[in-house]
Amino acid sequence: MTPELEPQPAQVRENHEPEEERRPLPVLYVLVFGMLTFFGFQYSITEAGDGPSNSGDRRTPVPAVVKQETGEAIFKRACSSCHQADGKGVPGTFPPLAGSPWVVGSQETPVRIVTLGLGGPLDVNGTVYNGAMPAIGATMKDDEVARVVSYIREGFGNKATPVDAATVAAVRKALNGRKDALTGGDELVTLGHKSP
Ligand code: HEC
Repeated sequence: MTPELEPQPAQVRENHEPEEERRPLPVLYVLVFGMLTFFGFQYSITEAGDGPSNSGDRRTPVPAVVKQETGEAIFKRACSSCHQADGKGVPGTFPPLAGSPWVVGSQETPVRIVTLGLGGPLDVNGTVYNGAMPAIGATMKDDEVARVVSYIREGFGNKATPVDAATVAAVRKALNGRKDALTGGDELVTLGHKSP
């Protein structure tokens, strides 16, 4: 043996070059994966969902509730700045709705006043007013006018019948597209107003 062929000490200390080993997938892994795949396929085939899509939702449907503005709320928003929240008005300026014959008499009268507005002399229980009320209700729907008029006829101690939307619609139709404000108590009487 020649000294050259003897493994050198450095060679003896070295590890072998790493080389790839054969490492098959673990059997358990293959089994579990295979079972899951099988289960997935057979589930999607057998449970393909022929039923209605909402069949899993067993909650009772709740009908949507549309909140309606009450007559009182409309009054507070559209009338109380002048006639006051208690309906007593402002002496000499805004007539009272409490105890007013124009409110509790014919149903048509307050509907006409709210729809057209009112200017000119108007006697409310012995006090003559001569102001100007704008056509506050011109843009209100029939049933909104019905609710606010019913509120003033039944509120503030008044005891008159409520007014329904059909009556409001009929009264407004008979106005024939008129836009001018009512001219006072005399005209309201001419139009058919009756005090209680
Ligand atoms: C900007 C102030 C003002 C507002 C807002 C107003 N009014 Fe009037 N209202 C008056 C005035 C002023 C008169 C008196 C008009 C006159 O002298 O000719 C009057 C008269 C009346 C009358 C007849 C007189 C009486 O006292 O019975 C009624 C009914 C009435 N208003 C109802 C209403 C209702 C209902 C509303 C709300 C939808 C309303 N008013 C909103 C100012 C107002």
